[in-house]
Amino acid sequence: MPEYPIEPFRIKTVEPIRLPPREEREALLRESGYNLFKIPAEKVFVDLLTDSGTGAMSQEQWSALMLGDESYASARSWFRFEKAVKEFTGMDHVIPVHQGRGGERIIASVLLKPGDTVVSNTLFDTTRANIEAVGAQGIDIPCPESEDIESDYPFKGNIDLERLEDLLAKSPRPRMLVLTLTNNTGGGQPASPENVAEAARMAGEKGVLVMLDICRIAENAYLVKERHPGYANRSVSDIVREIISHADLVSMSAKKDAIANIGGFIATRDENLAQAFRSQLILWEGFPTYGGMPGRDMDAIAQGLKEGINEEYLSYRVGQVRYLAESLRGIGYPVIWPPGGHAVYIEAGQALSHIPKPEFPGQALAVELYREGAVRTVEIGSLMFGKHARHEFVRLAIPRRVYTKAHLDWVVETAGRVYERRGDLRGYRITYEPPHLRHFLCRMEPVQ
Ligand code: F0G
Repeated sequence: MPEYPIEPFRIKTVEPIRLPPREEREALLRESGYNLFKIPAEKVFVDLLTDSGTGAMSQEQWSALMLGDESYASARSWFRFEKAVKEFTGMDHVIPVHQGRGGERIIASVLLKPGDTVVSNTLFDTTRANIEAVGAQGIDIPCPESEDIESDYPFKGNIDLERLEDLLAKSPRPRMLVLTLTNNTGGGQPASPENVAEAARMAGEKGVLVMLDICRIAENAYLVKERHPGYANRSVSDIVREIISHADLVSMSAKKDAIANIGGFIATRDENLAQAFRSQLILWEGFPTYGGMPGRDMDAIAQGLKEGINEEYLSYRVGQVRYLAESLRGIGYPVIWPPGGHAVYIEAGQALSHIPKPEFPGQALAVELYREGAVRTVEIGSLMFGKHARHEFVRLAIPRRVYTKAHLDWVVETAGRVYERRGDLRGYRITYEPPHLRHFLCRMEPVQ
């Protein structure tokens, strides 16, 4: 049996959940067009759709909410938020935003113009969409080791330095380097501090701006501490600061490692850049001392940033992900290895090799996990990315501090029963699709 970490907290507030009967699950799947985004959350038993904004706040965060100062300008909450972000990042200029993509939109509109390119270890979809929305182009160059999903290579979130060198030598040069830490789309895998440092050095030499997407930087830093002998005795906050020291700017969705339900920020060392961001901020998000967030949420984030780098918490957090990954691999599912920081990724194209890609094996598995045990997951494959999909992943993202071992065991038992009858699973065909981001709104039906 894989080892399960003991929770470094006890439960003070409870939110009831209920397993709907099988016939109801079946009817809900039909009514929703086999689209799990459309299943009402109260009809989900264990919800692993995302780790974003779904974490449980601590008693300190709930009390911080009561201290929220809702003054329009220069509220007390803003100064607490700004101080916490400066301490976390080591950067001087803080731009608050309502969530990660709000910051991405500002960065793209200020720094990019049509025809520009941005290179990355792998851009998250909203980052890529914001880059493309201003007419620029994103190029993903993950390290070659990430191709083999089942090898033990510890830093599959690295960028490919050789390909980066080639791209930097070309004219016109990329405008910006973006490293996503951890690499969400590539399995929640960490990048090594050396890889970040070297990529940033190469980019800096050519005058290319370096941005880090740090929404899961605490998990990245903890995995570095676990996997990199040179960092075993360093504190996580120290590793976070070291990694960030290589960047010109960072963007963080506070819905992940800051364990808040909403919010985010951009931070930078460059005052001129900060001023340019603030001009756009006022247009789209809000005044520079709240950026779309209520004061109370800024206070919850200020507290969450401290809790997110707590090492007992992180040990439990990555231990829980590892437990789920090892259990699913034990059943026979191919999963991205080693386990990442926030989620387990099953390669459904391999697990359901009888279902061709155009019939969405990932969606077939995700639907079946709901039908079997009201477990909600998300397909990250041909349904989400169309022709660009390299894998047919199903992501099981674990909300922070929310589920216990019994919940994860329910997921494992559900997945086990589905695995036994995997040969009977059928693919799906789309009956309606909207022009953009089809996975959110499309309808499907089973292939007969
Ligand atoms: N960057 C990364 C790496 C993300 O994973 C996300 C969101 C964002 C930026 C955007 O942040 O949602 O606050 O606007 N990821 C969520 C997920 C949606 O499920 O992985 P946001």
